[in-house]
Amino acid sequence: PRRILSGIQASGALHLGNYLGALKRFTALQDAAPTFVFVADMHAITVWQDPALLTAQTREIAAAYLASGLDPKKTVIFPQSAVRAHADLAWVFNCVARLGWLDRMTQFKEKSGKHKERASVGLYTYPVLQAADILLYKATEVPVGEDQKQHLELTRDIAGKFNNDFGAPGYFPLPEPVIQGPATRIMSLRDGSAKMSKSDPSDQSRINLTDDADAIAAKIKKSKTDMGVMPQVGESLDDRPEVRNLIAIYAALSDQTKDQVTAQFAGQGFGAFKPALADLAVEALAPVTAEMRRLMADPTEIDRVLKDGAERAAEVADPVVAEVKKIVGFWQA
Ligand code: TYM
Repeated sequence: PRRILSGIQASGALHLGNYLGALKRFTALQDAAPTFVFVADMHAITVWQDPALLTAQTREIAAAYLASGLDPKKTVIFPQSAVRAHADLAWVFNCVARLGWLDRMTQFKEKSGKHKERASVGLYTYPVLQAADILLYKATEVPVGEDQKQHLELTRDIAGKFNNDFGAPGYFPLPEPVIQGPATRIMSLRDGSAKMSKSDPSDQSRINLTDDADAIAAKIKKSKTDMGVMPQVGESLDDRPEVRNLIAIYAALSDQTKDQVTAQFAGQGFGAFKPALADLAVEALAPVTAEMRRLMADPTEIDRVLKDGAERAAEVADPVVAEVKKIVGFWQA
């Protein structure tokens, strides 16, 4: 049976890349199959998080889920740390995954920087916890942005090795990453070769979901382009990454293909395209940010959703951990 699952880390502000690459996709998928969407607070603490901020950020991500259209009656929305089974299964998977597999993870190399020996052990084993998140619910489809592809491959490797080592063929399904649409990798507004990211020191590089209409419009109008005009359909944009990125953003925000957007603006100047994109972005994001602000003004509703979600998630996850313990040979009364 189909099961959809994904999560977002509770670290730093959400941006347009998270919205188009993840949030908007979750909402589009939630009617297709049972859906689980969580706040990855255990992943967040792999780098230092101020405790009070972590709680606030967890609520903020939950608010973003609700504001972008996830329906808590259909979709199970919960904080990862509130379902103990994630940690339980992650330990077993730590003993299934091989050091050589983790050594290949590019995100660890990027995030640990020059001083690998000072990175937390959690940062290293981060993708193993991610595999536990996914396989605990026997998820078959995982909607994510391009940057999570390698973690999904590792998840499949762990599932395969677990099934094989313990003589439990097919116990864990091999989940498919769902990396689709025009916005699987939104780039910085200042540099078309860098991903839009929470950790970019320049706030001009990204549109935050907490930005107001004026800030959104100003960032788009100041975004980097080049000396040319809007391309024709079929024209290669390999050496025009900034233009390609703005077209992708327009396409994702307006639910069109990149070709449709290109056809609409072909040959026009950026002086025409950028204001149109700014209007579109404000129109699409304003209701989401307004609803996030409303929800966060009084967290009662968010907390109710998270508590109910944690209970529903545990109902699915706990029996899986009980089975895994049996498969592994842990003593059980
Ligand atoms: P995180 O919190 O870094 O990002 C959340 C989601 O947003 C996507 N994304 C982007 N998409 C397009 N363009 C961008 N510039 C961009 N930046 C981020 C990410 O691909 C992701 O889908 N490890 C995960 C969280 C996680 C998870 C999981 C996801 C933990 N357990 C289990 C799926 C399943 C992460 O750090 O995402």
